[in-house]
Amino acid sequence: MNVVSEVSTQSQPVIIPVEPYMSEDYARAEDDKLWGKVWQAACRSEDLKEIGDYVTYDILDESIIVVRTASDRIRAFYNVCQHRGRRLTEGSGHTNQFFCNFHGWSWNIDGECTRVLDEEDWSGCLTQANAGLPEVRLREWGGWVWVCMDPEAEPLEDYLAPVIRMLGPYEMEKMRYRWRQWLVFPCNWKTALEAFIESYHVLGTHPELIEWGENLCWCRSEGKHAWHGFTGLRGGPSYTSTGLSGAAGSEDQDPRVATFEQLDYLMETVNATTTETILGVARRLKDELPDGASMEDVTTHLMTTAKTEDAARGVIWPEIEPAHQIETGIDWHVFPNTVILPGITFALCYRARPNGYDPNSCIFEVYVIERFPEGEEPKTDWVHQPDSTEEKWRKILSQDFHNMPKVQQGMKSRGFQGTRPSPVQELAVIQFHKTLAEYMGTAGPEPLEKP
Ligand code: FES
Ligand SMILES: [Fe+2]
Repeated sequence: MNVVSEVSTQSQPVIIPVEPYMSEDYARAEDDKLWGKVWQAACRSEDLKEIGDYVTYDILDESIIVVRTASDRIRAFYNVCQHRGRRLTEGSGHTNQFFCNFHGWSWNIDGECTRVLDEEDWSGCLTQANAGLPEVRLREWGGWVWVCMDPEAEPLEDYLAPVIRMLGPYEMEKMRYRWRQWLVFPCNWKTALEAFIESYHVLGTHPELIEWGENLCWCRSEGKHAWHGFTGLRGGPSYTSTGLSGAAGSEDQDPRVATFEQLDYLMETVNATTTETILGVARRLKDELPDGASMEDVTTHLMTTAKTEDAARGVIWPEIEPAHQIETGIDWHVFPNTVILPGITFALCYRARPNGYDPNSCIFEVYVIERFPEGEEPKTDWVHQPDSTEEKWRKILSQDFHNMPKVQQGMKSRGFQGTRPSPVQELAVIQFHKTLAEYMGTAGPEPLEKP
């Protein structure tokens, strides 16, 4: 497929029609034209630890069984009995065979049909080719299991090229879940996702975050994906592998204090984008660094000390050039429905999926992954948390959640022609709709002309 492949840092002003968010016909068309064609993250490889562990990945009416068939192999099969079409699995579990509860046909975990009741009735016409479970393309990258239902689609390595180039050095395959929660949300899956692929909303939605300085965002798109970072307005460092927003150096604050307060606040209100190791060092900055320490001194001390302390407990940081870290920014939209906020030893991730063909409903998942010493990974499960309040999702996410249904409702107004993302700071939203339109065969964003 024809990809928007050049690197962009700005778009011309556009208006994006509301149809993709509102229309049930559009949602139905997405089934075939989008979900049937893209590479999508079905689960994390760690969801499938033992041979025979499986996860059922559902997307609209489609269902795919993702199963570990060997210590070094994961395979995916369409979740449908080849007899009369019954679904075989739901949720996740462990098995040595897939058994159909209707008439008892069975398959081994490699998808080979191992039992047909009274097979002789078919006079030898049933073969592995027509009774085995049809396989779905699957690749692992970054600790995710990616599946694609289109045999003609480009290889994952091409599809994810900029993601692999920029995020590969973070070795996310070495990270494991720290926590994970999901809920059904009353908005389109794109409305939900778009609340997390730009930081232009920080001033309006999370005003308390600018106590440590205001930021402008840069944004870049390449291939089907886009990412953004902060430009520290007041000369602070502009990367966030520690979780710093990059502006903790505003001139009236002691950077030792500001850095700790910012990281502490993030841990308290998001429970992500930093680690206990980094926060622990930040807590001691005032004792370990002299008065008058610069932002640069603080960052260097924080990073080198945290790296040493992590190494002592068996968490070896990846070696990533500072220039690469800056270029990585803070937030990645991996088309179509995954968001990754990468850090040096951690990441905050989101996935949004349609909830059936109702354009006003989606399944929204949030999870944090982190590097742990081997054997010390926490045991986690998906927690269904339907209550979107601060009490259940902490402050920052509940602030974001507050917007999403109101955007979905607001866009339905006769007084609204379409969405007008910032051509600079919300380039990721524009790129999302350009790529989407290519898949959907629709016009997509239209130029917003000067009057
Ligand atoms: S539908 Fe599965 S065995 Fe009949
Ligand atoms: Fe937000």
